Amino acid sequence: MNQLLKGKKGIIFGALNDKSIAWQVALKCHEHGATFVLTNAPIAMRMGEINNLAETCNNSRIIPCDVSKSSDMESLIEQSMEILGGKIDFILHSVGMSVNMRKGRHYTDLDYKWTHETFDISAISFHRLLQTCYKMDAINDWGSVVALTYIAAQRVFPDYSEMAESKSILESIARSFGYHYGKSKKVRINTISQSPTKTTAGTGVKGFGDFYDYAGALSPLGNASAEACADYCVMMFCDLSRMVTMQNLFHDGGFSYTGFSHDVFTLMENRKNDEV
Ligand SMILES: NC(=O)c1ccc[n+]([C@@H]2O[C@H](COP(=O)([O-])OP(=O)(O)OC[C@H]3O[C@@H](n4cnc5c(N)ncnc54)[C@H](O)[C@@H]3O)[C@@H](O)[C@H]2O)c1
Repeated sequence: MNQLLKGKKGIIFGALNDKSIAWQVALKCHEHGATFVLTNAPIAMRMGEINNLAETCNNSRIIPCDVSKSSDMESLIEQSMEILGGKIDFILHSVGMSVNMRKGRHYTDLDYKWTHETFDISAISFHRLLQTCYKMDAINDWGSVVALTYIAAQRVFPDYSEMAESKSILESIARSFGYHYGKSKKVRINTISQSPTKTTAGTGVKGFGDFYDYAGALSPLGNASAEACADYCVMMFCDLSRMVTMQNLFHDGGFSYTGFSHDVFTLMENRKNDEV
């Protein structure tokens, strides 16, 4: 099973460092024969780590884009088509940021200006991306677009704060735009709901360690890693999944459908004993 993406052209958002899910997706897409453009917010590129990834991936071109700016998005799509020599086959949206969380504001005390910024970066940016591509006719027929999401869109994780609403909007955009893009161009749009993963964004959530352990203990297969998520993205980008669209796909080792596990019970017992 290799070269599933041979000849395919893509855009990958959100590779910050080698912990990033997008970083692993880029490595896998390269391994499977794709060529792609890498992008991230200009401020995130200061560290320069993305250059190492680009080098590893056949000197992929890097184009800065703040996803909350329409002009950046338009320029990214235009330049990507020029660099890749035509329309695009796949896109990964792997972007998320909560301003209130970053500034330590609790969910019951949100600053709404920051909440708007959070929604704009983490959710509306997905619509902005799709709308820009739609208007520029930038995606090939049967192309595939994936955004990463989290189960806090369906269930309450108290410390996930305003990101829960962001993910609900994101998933809804995948369904709504998926209809229109499917009808007009057969383009597929899905979200992948990933297990907690030790990345910069993930570990920024208060209590991350606790719900990482809890999710791992509840899921019959354990937590899905970033590498496994990358495999799933490759499957969603390739032609084998061509009839899948408008879905929220759980990639979580079975977490979403498990009510109880003995491992969770053991974890709680061990914690109690540690406290004594
Ligand atoms: N880590 C987890 O536990 C987990 C679980 C489920 C879903 N996700 C989702 O996966 C995606 C990727 O996150 P990650 O965990 O790999 O963390 P990460 O921190 O490596 O990636 C988040 C990316 O968003 C980018 N970003 C932030 N603001 C931006 C802006 N204005 N313009 C462009 N890019 C911007 C950052 O630069 C960074 O590269 C996010 O949507 C996240 O919510 C993460």
